[in-house]
Amino acid sequence: MFSTILLILLILMLLITWVTIRHYKAPCKNFPPGPWGLPLLGSSAYFSKHIYKTMWELSKKYGSVYSVKMGPDCRVIVVGSDAIKECLVKKGNDYADRPPLWVFQLSNPHAYGITSARFDDAFQRRRRFCHTTLRGLGFGKTSFESKITEEISVLLDHFKRKLDIPLEVKDIINRSVSNIICSITFGKRFEYTDPEFIYMIDTMHKWFAMIQKIFRLNAMAFLRPFYKNEINHCANLGKNLHRFCRQQIDDHHAKFNEDNIRDFIDTYLAEAQKRHNSDGFCDEDLQSVLVDLFVAGTETTATTLNWALLLMILHPSIQEKVFHEIKENVGMNRLPKLDDRKHLPYTEATLLEIQRFACIAPYTLSHSALTDSTLCGYNIPKGMVVLLILWSLHHDPKLWPEPNKFDPNRFYDASTGTVIKHESFMPFSAGRRMCMGEQLAKHELFLYFSSMMQQFQFTIPPG
Ligand code: HEM
Repeated sequence: MFSTILLILLILMLLITWVTIRHYKAPCKNFPPGPWGLPLLGSSAYFSKHIYKTMWELSKKYGSVYSVKMGPDCRVIVVGSDAIKECLVKKGNDYADRPPLWVFQLSNPHAYGITSARFDDAFQRRRRFCHTTLRGLGFGKTSFESKITEEISVLLDHFKRKLDIPLEVKDIINRSVSNIICSITFGKRFEYTDPEFIYMIDTMHKWFAMIQKIFRLNAMAFLRPFYKNEINHCANLGKNLHRFCRQQIDDHHAKFNEDNIRDFIDTYLAEAQKRHNSDGFCDEDLQSVLVDLFVAGTETTATTLNWALLLMILHPSIQEKVFHEIKENVGMNRLPKLDDRKHLPYTEATLLEIQRFACIAPYTLSHSALTDSTLCGYNIPKGMVVLLILWSLHHDPKLWPEPNKFDPNRFYDASTGTVIKHESFMPFSAGRRMCMGEQLAKHELFLYFSSMMQQFQFTIPPG
């Protein structure tokens, strides 16, 4: 009996020693320094409310490239313009990979879409193909403008029917923006009242929220048994999104005619046929791509527009200045067009400031090192997960005095009436994994924002 207890204690001690040594041992020579944290749990930074703000604070002590323990694993944190550019642009090939993320694999074990896919040959072929096809279908091109404007008109009519009564605009803006990506990919738009559409957008939000809630379990696998309900819920939400996209693919299969290619799905199916469902082109890959586009194409732009309205409500004088610029340069008889952009520099500057201030993507998605590399003089071993804090680019007081003040003049040169470009402004990230929807998002943001500002004055409801 005594010897058994002794043996168990010995094994426990060995285990604790192994975990502790593993925890404090740097993954390679000349690895970036950082706070130590506790074995198994890691740094307390990962438990803070706004991780990106904590990471930014830590960089003041450890520099623009440092390491943090997340659970038993290490992450490299990259902060500030020079270090982020070195990682994404100068050494973009070295850091183009994504780590396998358990939280995404819950609903998609193969992760063969775009957003969370590894940087292999199949991914590069798929991303190139998707980019070219989406561009061909009008993604980010002025030829697609009329589709966006049609969708905006439906939204504005909806607002007009609710004039002078308090209105919750968030859900309707989400549905309107989502319809644009649905038109390109699925070849159809949905009515705002369509129960399936409402359900899918609601599912998307809940999925997002759940992912954020259980994100820390990516690294802390030993905690997963305590979060079974949340994990199952997250997996089911993701699977529902996949099922919805699968249904769109099945509908397209039923009506597929290679002489009449209607939309993105048809183009992908034709390519898959040509490639005999290989090389990263099959229904499962397409399903993941559609989920990525549906989620990325809705959530980001819609959230920015919701921020835009909130900031205009809080800054009525800026809202008025934007309105007058539009009234003088576009008039009130038609909606603004992309061509008007060059005549609306203050409106454009206001939009850029909204993006800077709201910073809806405070960090990039996780990157990982494809090969042994370096960053700001430190060694980074192959496979290391790297997190880039975009917040640090948009809220650094050295670059943006009083960063918490909303001020479109940061982007507006009143003496020349032109938009000021800032090198460190990167809301869509940069390099090999930068946002695939940048052009579309920019067009959407301009057309939605300028049209809403032209047609309505947004205020807080009385009381
Ligand atoms: C205001 C709107 C948007 C913002 C601020 C935004 C921002 C971002 C950011 C920061 C990333 C991560 C890049 C990285 O990891 O380095 C990203 C990735 C991505 N975005 Fe966007 N995005 C927006 C709109 C869109 C739209 C409209 C679409 C398309 C439908 C889209 C599709 C994607 C895709 C597919 C990726 C993954 C790219 C890859 O992993 O290779 N985004 N976006």
